[in-house]
Amino acid sequence: MKIGIGSDHGGFELKEHIKEYLEKNNIEYVDYGTKGKDSVDYPDFGKAVAEGVIAGEVERGIVICGTGIGISIVANKVKGIRCALCSDTYSARMSMEHNNANMLALGGRVLGVDLAQEIVEVWLKSNFQGGRHERRVNKISALDC
Ligand code: RB5
Repeated sequence: MKIGIGSDHGGFELKEHIKEYLEKNNIEYVDYGTKGKDSVDYPDFGKAVAEGVIAGEVERGIVICGTGIGISIVANKVKGIRCALCSDTYSARMSMEHNNANMLALGGRVLGVDLAQEIVEVWLKSNFQGGRHERRVNKISALDC
């Protein structure tokens, strides 16, 4: 599975940690930036990763800003994206099993590195359950315009 990852300056350090985790686990990724700690605008990076997911450049996306809020709002504006902002592993699992979330958002100023890594690990290992959840996700997709 190839992952797209992106952040603003508020999520930069956590992004670098998550990249290390992906490398250690032989998970391919594309880094959509930002490339350093200079102040940037999170919409640019949320949009880039979301468009990468929709274009099929990557299968799933991980986006990080200070809280994870702004960058998840941006990602969810892109047609076909279901981006889940998670601060715990249960929500991360449910976001895949029930919501088929194709993107995960994290708060770089909210989460410790170890918890963030566990959230990513659980999310990557989880799969959509389909069934009644498919009907509900289809109702979300019907709102895309
Ligand atoms: C940047 O200071 C901060 O606003 C951003 O990282 C994010 O938390 C926005 O939601």
